[in-house]
Amino acid sequence: RIMKRKTACRRDIDRLNAPFLSIYQSLIPPKEEKDKQEKLLTILRSLVKKDWPEAQLYVYGSCANSFGFSKSDIDICLVIQNMDVNKSEVLLKLAETLESNNLQNVQALIRARVPIVKLMDPDTGISCDICINNILAVINTKLLHDYARIDGRLRQLAFIVKHWAKKRGVNETYQGTLSSYAYVLMCINFLQQRKPAILPCLQGMEPTYSVTVENTECAYFNEVDKLHGFGAGNGETISHLVWAFFNYWAYYHDYTNDVISVRTGGTLSKQAKDWTRRIGNDRHLICIEDPFEITHDLGRIVDKASIRVLREEFERAAEIMQHDLDPCTKLFEPY
Ligand code: CTP
Ligand code: MG
Repeated sequence: RIMKRKTACRRDIDRLNAPFLSIYQSLIPPKEEKDKQEKLLTILRSLVKKDWPEAQLYVYGSCANSFGFSKSDIDICLVIQNMDVNKSEVLLKLAETLESNNLQNVQALIRARVPIVKLMDPDTGISCDICINNILAVINTKLLHDYARIDGRLRQLAFIVKHWAKKRGVNETYQGTLSSYAYVLMCINFLQQRKPAILPCLQGMEPTYSVTVENTECAYFNEVDKLHGFGAGNGETISHLVWAFFNYWAYYHDYTNDVISVRTGGTLSKQAKDWTRRIGNDRHLICIEDPFEITHDLGRIVDKASIRVLREEFERAAEIMQHDLDPCTKLFEPY
């Protein structure tokens, strides 16, 4: 009898596959948008070349990691070989160049934690932030992109989770909730831990790609075409994974002791990382290890108030997935 009930539950959940997939489809940027981004990038590259002939422009963040929604801003990194450049000087000069070439709303934010120049292209309406020599961000963008190529369910799950987080107001780092980057890492780690696994642990395999950035070694297996079909032994569908993801973060994650780690494909103990107490402003109430900057906890911005908000939202989502007749509407209701 128990077996029978379980199957019925599974079938109920599977009814949600079509609606989840159509939400996912509706969030994917159309090709015209990608073309516009490429066009703007070509213009920016030619402008930058005049002042810094040796420099390179890289797109990072959601426009390059394959987890970007339609109408995202572009995050760009200007890489200047000389690492000791005065970033403020470069940004001010860049702002001047951009402004005299008709780009709009140009602003150099040189005192920000990550100093940037902001701009808007009047022809396409696209906004960009340009930072300098943030090479680790370019590399972690590539890691996320490579994971997305292994199994299509990662992109589907991460889109649903990001969409939920944005609608529910828990994707606001300045309010102590999590970045999109953190949510994607949570999705990757979750799929690494399914049984059987849906994603491998690329940093645990023989490296085929390796760069060292400011003493941080970034190495992993990046020939992901060879891993096509890796997760085929696991037949879980998107609706089941969404249900299980929220269930994990609502009821099974050990917030007191565990750190989730894409780098190792599992969890680590807070004890081992010395993340057991508050140091400065880092409280480590939910711990997500950055895959390369392993002393970075992406949950460090979460405080006593916002951890409650987050956990209540995970529980709300889990309850809706479990009991609501129309979860696809309720889940994404604005808070
Ligand atoms: N990043 C990082 N460390 C962080 C936060 C962000 O290295 N603590 C880098 C990552 O390369 C990430 C990029 O900055 O891909 C952009 O971060 P974020 O805005 O959180 O993610 P997006 O994918 O751009 O999401 P959104 O669609 O919400 O803009
Ligand atoms: Mg972004």
